[in-house]
Amino acid sequence: MHKPTPLKRLSMILARDLNGAIGYEGSLAIKSDNDFAWYKKITKPFKHAVCGRVTYEEDLPDIVKKRHRFIIITRNPDKYASTPEAQYMTLSDALKELQVWDVPGHDIICLGGAEIYKALLPYVSTVYLTTFFSVADEADTYFNDFTDKWESVGATWFNDCYCTRLERVCQSTNNII
Ligand SMILES: NC(=O)c1ccc[n+]([C@@H]2O[C@H](COP(=O)([O-])OP(=O)(O)OC[C@H]3O[C@@H](n4cnc5c(N)ncnc54)[C@H](OP(=O)(O)O)[C@@H]3O)[C@@H](O)[C@H]2O)c1
Repeated sequence: MHKPTPLKRLSMILARDLNGAIGYEGSLAIKSDNDFAWYKKITKPFKHAVCGRVTYEEDLPDIVKKRHRFIIITRNPDKYASTPEAQYMTLSDALKELQVWDVPGHDIICLGGAEIYKALLPYVSTVYLTTFFSVADEADTYFNDFTDKWESVGATWFNDCYCTRLERVCQSTNNII
């Protein structure tokens, strides 16, 4: 099978607890002012974002929706009304768009959730990862699928979490995270 080629300008941002939990009932597993401030700072420069239909509909606040032009991944794009700011498309159409857009000035950030992190991780070059020092009280969505080698190129520490920037160094089956 064709091996996915990482896209230089595709990044991903996610926040996990110590068990890899990211969500509960359509919302974040852990809500933190520190993480939200980091999220706003990191995502602000990105004009374009990609996410799953569930995250777009149930999780993202309006302030985030207004910041980016979105690709929203769904198996049923005809069911939804696309606008220039929010285009619903299948995963394969989204990947075609992401490949066309992988040029200077078109950086894109993947905002989740778990299904879309999993589908797009092989194409991602940079991960902004928040790790909470605790375990969520309740969780139903997890992301523990890092299977490539990543190098930490910076970290910011808060009292409840630390936030790292990870760059892909090579693809392998080793798991270092
Ligand atoms: N902690 C974090 O950093 C973070 C970030 C984002 C989200 N979250 C949390 O994660 C949870 C949502 O994650 P999730 O995994 O349930 O949903 P999701 O990844 O946001 O969206 C899932 C939807 O994406 C579409 N999809 C998935 N795979 C597809 C494929 N191969 N082809 C076409 N469409 C596909 C489907 O849409 P259709 O049903 O329309 O076909 C599916 O229902 C929420 O609790 C949210 O708060 C956490």
